[in-house]
Amino acid sequence: MTITGNAALAGVLGWPINHSKSPVLHGYWLRQHAIDGAYVPLAVAPERFAEAVPALAALHFQGANVTVPHKERALAVCDTVDAHARRLGAVNTLIFGTDGGIHGRNTDGVGFLNNLRQGAPGWSPADGPAVVVGAGGAARAVAVALADAGVPAVRVLNRTRHKAEALAGELGGPLTVADWADPAPSLGDAALLVNTTSLGMTGEPPLPLDLAPLPTTAVVNDIVYKPLETDLLARARARGHPVVDGLGMLLHQAVPGFAAWFGVTPEVTDGLRAHVLAA
Ligand code: ATR
Repeated sequence: MTITGNAALAGVLGWPINHSKSPVLHGYWLRQHAIDGAYVPLAVAPERFAEAVPALAALHFQGANVTVPHKERALAVCDTVDAHARRLGAVNTLIFGTDGGIHGRNTDGVGFLNNLRQGAPGWSPADGPAVVVGAGGAARAVAVALADAGVPAVRVLNRTRHKAEALAGELGGPLTVADWADPAPSLGDAALLVNTTSLGMTGEPPLPLDLAPLPTTAVVNDIVYKPLETDLLARARARGHPVVDGLGMLLHQAVPGFAAWFGVTPEVTDGLRAHVLAA
């Protein structure tokens, strides 16, 4: 697709940015829909982030994604921030309005849920408690998404207990704290287990969690996608659990931004998955 003088522009702000998969995935959709547009990597050092964003708006970009380490910083440069992003304290999608305003959203939660729904169509929030492993930024997005979807109990299982307590205390609702040293009681009636830690990622040790107490009907979802089949997912698959890998969360979180910037709501397909994996 040739880019003309009318091309719609977007990109991803990060530091570093060279490992980002976002240009590959947005590029796929731009070509698929023959859109006159471009999506580019934008390497921005933390101390220049606050000047970079208005500069993009001045250059008539439609908006941008925001990734590590800028997601929290991005709240401060927005004129409006949606409720989900405010609750997470992090923005991953910027939309530059025709009014000149900078609008911040967070699509990680919707990306997580849509990936789960696509990968485990039999799962429903009412099926029962969820166990979320980890208490960092990713755990926060996942726990809020599950609570908002109506999951009756969301148990935070984290090595450092006080971080799980802080998360559950702040977010309230169905969130409680599970015991890292004795997780079996929290797993016994769970309908969903989600790993949000980096354990299981290439170069990291596997997640040391015994799955034996978990009912084999429970869905097991890892948000790690390198490798696609983590040790956790391989063990879960061998036990007969429905399993959902993490690549789809990355792909689904990108959908709302693309729709806002380029005017087409794209789909997450096997072709897209294969394209991003091969890149
Ligand atoms: P993110 O924002 O991407 O979620 P983070 O804030 O660094 O990342 O959180 C990483 C999570 O992985 C934390 O829950 C961390 O547990 P601690 O709070 O105990 O640090 C978890 N994690 C990382 N390495 C771990 C390990 N070796 N064993 C157990 N948990 C680990």
